[in-house]
Amino acid sequence: MTTPAPEEHEEVAIRPAERADLLAVVRIENASFAQPWPYNAFERFLGEPGFLVVEVAGEIAGYIVADVTQQLGRALGHVKDIAVHPDHRRAGVASMLLSRSLGVLAVHGAETVKLEVRRSNDEAKRLYQGFGFDPLRRIPQYYGDGEAAIVMIRKVE
Ligand SMILES: CC(C)(COP(=O)(O)OP(=O)(O)OC[C@H]1O[C@@H](n2cnc3c(N)ncnc32)[C@H](O)[C@@H]1OP(=O)(O)O)[C@@H](O)C(=O)NCCC(=O)NCCS
Repeated sequence: MTTPAPEEHEEVAIRPAERADLLAVVRIENASFAQPWPYNAFERFLGEPGFLVVEVAGEIAGYIVADVTQQLGRALGHVKDIAVHPDHRRAGVASMLLSRSLGVLAVHGAETVKLEVRRSNDEAKRLYQGFGFDPLRRIPQYYGDGEAAIVMIRKVE
């Protein structure tokens, strides 16, 4: 029997977040944002179908938090948070999360999905543009440090 190449050991799985994932999620959040969500912000989304994690070789490599709410009689999907561990970036993890999340939001009735992104966050804007999100408007002073947000939206089939 031949020894498999290292990458063949790297099993990738995407699944709903569980309580046991939260410490790893918060660690990635802290490594990713100047104003990170606290533990209890993630705790509130446990059980929400749009809170997903990606495991790579048994370690949490990234997560997404999204939900669907009724806005003026229409179901609106909202991507609230997404981050990938710095060691796992540029490997398609966020794309995997976004793709699965859009499917979950569609199953839960979303016709449109929106998100906010920092005006300066070119990596994230490029990711979203690749997924068909278009800039809709700018919200000045959206973030605690005074930076504006760009609201981006896309239709869901
Ligand atoms: C933004 C982020 C989630 C992307 O995660 P990722 O797993 O590295 O993204 P992917 O590998 O799926 O990349 C998908 C596409 O996004 C764009 N992209 C991602 N990172 C990029 C970078 N550093 N520079 C330029 N484009 C980038 C590219 O178009 C990329 O496609 P390509 O690799 O074929 O060129 C990650 O950089 C991150 O966690 N950043 C900190 C948290 C954050 O800013 N979250 C978004 C909040 S709105």
